[in-house]
Amino acid sequence: MNPFNTISEHSFASDNNAGVHPQIMEALQQANRGHVVGYGDDPITQQAVKRIRAYFGAETEVFFVYSGTGANILALNAITHSFESVICAQTAHINVDECGAPEKVIGCKLIDIPTADGKLTPENIKPVLTGFDFEHHSQPRVISISQPTELGTVYSTEELAALRRLADDYNLLIHMDGARLANAAAAMNLTLADLSVRAGVDVLSFGGTKNGMMFGEAVLFFNRLPSAHVKYLRKQNMQLHSKMRFISCQFEAILRDDLWLINARHANKMARLLYERVKDLPGLEITQPLQTNALFVRLPKTVIDALRAEYFFYDWDEARNEVRWMCAFDTQKEHVEVFVQRLKELLAGK
Ligand SMILES: Cc1ncc(COP(=O)(O)O)c(C=O)c1O
Repeated sequence: MNPFNTISEHSFASDNNAGVHPQIMEALQQANRGHVVGYGDDPITQQAVKRIRAYFGAETEVFFVYSGTGANILALNAITHSFESVICAQTAHINVDECGAPEKVIGCKLIDIPTADGKLTPENIKPVLTGFDFEHHSQPRVISISQPTELGTVYSTEELAALRRLADDYNLLIHMDGARLANAAAAMNLTLADLSVRAGVDVLSFGGTKNGMMFGEAVLFFNRLPSAHVKYLRKQNMQLHSKMRFISCQFEAILRDDLWLINARHANKMARLLYERVKDLPGLEITQPLQTNALFVRLPKTVIDALRAEYFFYDWDEARNEVRWMCAFDTQKEHVEVFVQRLKELLAGK
């Protein structure tokens, strides 16, 4: 189905449905000059790595990859053996939306934990920290968290610190899926480093695509974790871009002049506007606290169906009539107002 042939051009389905920010397009145009060495041995990539290190620290090792799934797989592949396990929330992207790629590619077991809000805590993790040194059990090795979570909620720095203490107690590593880390940092008024390297994260999947880039993510290794082997895994996992400058130039552009923050703040702000406009509507129930750029609501099925005939968006939990609406860097106030107006009409039975 191509929803855009028949229905509204602005969807509230995902920030992945947005286009590319003009400054990123401009950076791609600028990078499109002459020949440079491929696979990352070029000045633009060196500049982008320097830029990333300015945000996350000089010790950071940077590996650009194509996609968010690729970033998560490379990050986890680099820090686990196939006999080890990765603990994640049941709602984690690695658990639900990567088509079993972690199990297929890395071969390790995912231990998925049910949560109300998408967040892991020492309390919900501890019961699965068993079987150490027992050769019949996969060995717990990594806590993988998403910041923000797939439910749009964020871990506070205190919650991150508690996870780090637990990880230290059990000799575990922490991986963060930061496909939307910019939205979390913007929402919490903290730096990208505060929420990752300074919070004790070992390996970060750092997203760009959802925040205005065309494609490309970065895997960042912190804490001087050995990473000399990662370049080989990146190639084996088919994530080494030959024309690397076209990923790195986008990171350089999004991190220069705080474009990442401007875009993420805007997406969050539009989601807040949407929340304010719909929160008191009769027949609509908000199911998660709004903390970043995603809003989760329950609606009568007839309203969902009628609205979806005009706007593309995803079911979150079809059985509960729960859907997800998401705003992006290019969502405008008018998009929200027109969407809400139609929603109101449908809720009123018009
Ligand atoms: C939290 C999170 N992580 C990872 C990804 C994977 O990104 P990609 O679709 O580029 O593989 C997504 C995509 O929606 C996501 O929402």
